[in-house]
Amino acid sequence: MPWTKTQLNESIKKIIGDRLLIIASNREPYIHTYKEGKVEYIRPIGGAVTALDPVMRVTKGTWVAYGSGNADKDVVDKKNEVKVPPENPKYKLRRIWLSKDEENGYYYGYSNKAMWPLCHMAYTRPAFDDVDWAYYKIVNQKFADTILDIVKDQKAFVWIQDYHLLLLSKLLKEKNKNLITAHFLHIPWPNPEAFRICPQKNEILEGLLSNNLLGFHIRYHCSNFMETVKLEMEARIDTERTSVVYGGHETLVRAFPISVDFAEISEQAESKEVKSAMKKLRHEFSIENDVFIMVGLDRIDYTKGIVEKIRAVDRFFEKFPEYKGKVTFIQKGGLSRMHIPEYKELNDTLNRLVEEVNWKHSTEKWYPILLIRRHMSRTGIIALYKMANACLVSPLHDGMNLVCKEFIATKNDLNGVLILSQFTGAARELDDAIFVNPYDRENFAIMLKEAVELPDSKKKKRMKRLRSVVKENNIYKWAGKFLEELKKI
Ligand code: F6P
Repeated sequence: MPWTKTQLNESIKKIIGDRLLIIASNREPYIHTYKEGKVEYIRPIGGAVTALDPVMRVTKGTWVAYGSGNADKDVVDKKNEVKVPPENPKYKLRRIWLSKDEENGYYYGYSNKAMWPLCHMAYTRPAFDDVDWAYYKIVNQKFADTILDIVKDQKAFVWIQDYHLLLLSKLLKEKNKNLITAHFLHIPWPNPEAFRICPQKNEILEGLLSNNLLGFHIRYHCSNFMETVKLEMEARIDTERTSVVYGGHETLVRAFPISVDFAEISEQAESKEVKSAMKKLRHEFSIENDVFIMVGLDRIDYTKGIVEKIRAVDRFFEKFPEYKGKVTFIQKGGLSRMHIPEYKELNDTLNRLVEEVNWKHSTEKWYPILLIRRHMSRTGIIALYKMANACLVSPLHDGMNLVCKEFIATKNDLNGVLILSQFTGAARELDDAIFVNPYDRENFAIMLKEAVELPDSKKKKRMKRLRSVVKENNIYKWAGKFLEELKKI
């Protein structure tokens, strides 16, 4: 039986007991903004928030994150806290404010110009800058001070997320040895040869090895981490317990493949709101009922392989022109990290490329590619998945990728094909996808044809198996298994 919210709740009570539960991440789960003078909120895109918000609704702890919205300050109380989800509050969000310099150095700088490319190894050179590193340390300290202020002398478990806060556990434990800390990395961990170029590697590894538990999406990233430690640190690797002992302190290292709230997405996909959103989208894009729709949903990021995907779609129409007018590719691209030149350039490249491909293949009434830039509500995104016959997920390297799991969860009628990059963490679980190497344009185009032509019976069988994997390994199981591991500490 798949894990449920109730089961997770009970498990948490047993494991966490009377400890406070605090989640720390850079990105906040709800961003308050002003629109035409009124306060609104948006849910940011990205794996960490998609996965952890449903968990926090059940566990009811405090989530500490950077307040990035222009209305964020106006909705918090004196402690900088606001209850969320705004429409049905379940847990507290404690916001941290960053100056422009801090945001530049810590977020755009060290996190996303150094650690992000370093860990993804997607041919974008990491840039290590001393000033960025200084701000990275300052902001990690800011998170530590805020958490220590929330905890005071209570017992607490701090669950740290992602590559923005690699030093946090050490900073917390220097002040409060009784804290239990665990860190989950939502991105890959690179091999030791790639990581060794990082000038701050020792401080980063010491930070991570202060945790009691360290989680990655897949075993391969755990082994990369253990190999890195072996090469860089005077530490003992315990292969039986899969742990590292450094300075007399043990850190368990484990794989926990993250997931989505399958039951909720699957239920939402049948709602009236989603059905009417589907109608509106078809109307907006003037798509005939018999057109085969492929969708892609990505943050505009060079690791996501969006350019490669568009080139493959272009090749598909070159090779198989009989599909012109019969297949449409909709790419939803969320703008991201636009103050970093590589992201801005990628965005410009995409605009140019889509324009070129559309010019080359379009007919009077049909465009091969529709690029959606506007923010879409959750209902709109689920409608997009649901109306798609296939989903194209083609990162060059991705820790897990939750887009593919969300797509699968919406396919209650089994009518959908998943085309998945072999370089995602999800590829290790989702055997029934059609696999592509995004660097191999020719074969990618052939696989697109295979997806379009897949007979109905095969399509349904594959989707059925994909759904049973995601249903069983849902987000509650991920959180439950992670927390259960704490018993071993
Ligand atoms: O999935 C990895 C991740 O870093 C998330 O943790 C993050 O929220 C997401 O990518 C989106 O990135 P950003 O928060 O920089 O917009």
